Amino acid sequence: MVVSLAACSQGGSGGSGGDGEGAGSGQLVGVAMPTKSSERWIQDGDAVKEQLEAEGFKVDLQYAEDDIPTQVSQIENMITKGAEALIIASIDGTTLTQVLQDAADADIPVIAYDRLIRDTENVSYYASFDNYKVGVQQANSVLNGLGLVDLEGAPVDGAPEGPFNIEMFAGSPDDNNATFFWDGAQDTLKPFIDAGTLVVKSGQTSFEQAATLRWDGETAQKRMENILTSSYSDGTQVDGVLSPYDGISRGIISALTDAGYATGEEWPIISGQDAELDSVKAINSGEQFATIFKDTRKLATAAVEMTVAVLNDEEPEVNNTEDYDNGSFVVPSYLLDSQIVVKDNITEVLVDSGYWTEEEIG
Ligand code: BGC
Repeated sequence: MVVSLAACSQGGSGGSGGDGEGAGSGQLVGVAMPTKSSERWIQDGDAVKEQLEAEGFKVDLQYAEDDIPTQVSQIENMITKGAEALIIASIDGTTLTQVLQDAADADIPVIAYDRLIRDTENVSYYASFDNYKVGVQQANSVLNGLGLVDLEGAPVDGAPEGPFNIEMFAGSPDDNNATFFWDGAQDTLKPFIDAGTLVVKSGQTSFEQAATLRWDGETAQKRMENILTSSYSDGTQVDGVLSPYDGISRGIISALTDAGYATGEEWPIISGQDAELDSVKAINSGEQFATIFKDTRKLATAAVEMTVAVLNDEEPEVNNTEDYDNGSFVVPSYLLDSQIVVKDNITEVLVDSGYWTEEEIG
């Protein structure tokens, strides 16, 4: 039997299992999240917990502050405490092989949450977004800000010829998503780089050069400072920066401000991801051009429905059985859609959907 994904419930009862009592009847589910230092994971943790509890589960929700041994021991503890299922957003997707063997030995199913868990057979399903498409959207938002395409990536009449100077950042190399974002963005930017419309003045065009360990904003700030010093001291301007995450964008913004850039005409077009509150405010004030909104409530619903299904020996709905090879096998996945947010659609995308209130955005 196939359990269908209910349309997003805004933290309400998740749909499947549905005899009104909820599917959980007091079973414990362990939920391992990477860090509280980024707002999105707090939203994720809260939404998963709330939706599991609405189904009648007990929840052990843990954050590991981006420390791998801490995450491993939190998962060990969940197993010891008798968790019947695990939902895991990994820090480093390659470091859970042993602990997930312990979970498998105890017959505990595992749902990989947002980030693929690699190098193990002991993952049941993967709930995420279309991560390649997120990268395409990040690149399209930079191209759109420079006046080259519309937000869907279609060419626009009378587009400027450039050349525009851009710099590029990637996410954490131990996070499987980072290469998907990068590949989507590179495939989208490449024709413009090949045509000479975009110039990466630093010459730093490889993933390895652009990567930002643990998605750390300060690391990104330092790299941006170095690039500004080494490649832009001659007075040329950076026109655009591809950034894969709002926290990285904030680091880039600090580096630009410290180097004397001021918002307005000369200020570069900067992308982002996650629609974090400070970054939505930065979009409103013109410091950041765009972010990518991924509705964590819908992701929580997908993961909770997968959990309910596996615990009932049912097959959850999946929509991708090709793209997420974790090094052991292709993990059956359910991928959600993401949306580009720019100043003009903040209200429509973020406020009307109840993700942020008008007051929070300020
Ligand atoms: C997530 C992004 C997030 C990044 C940093 C990625 O795995 O998919 O939404 O921006 O981690 O937390």
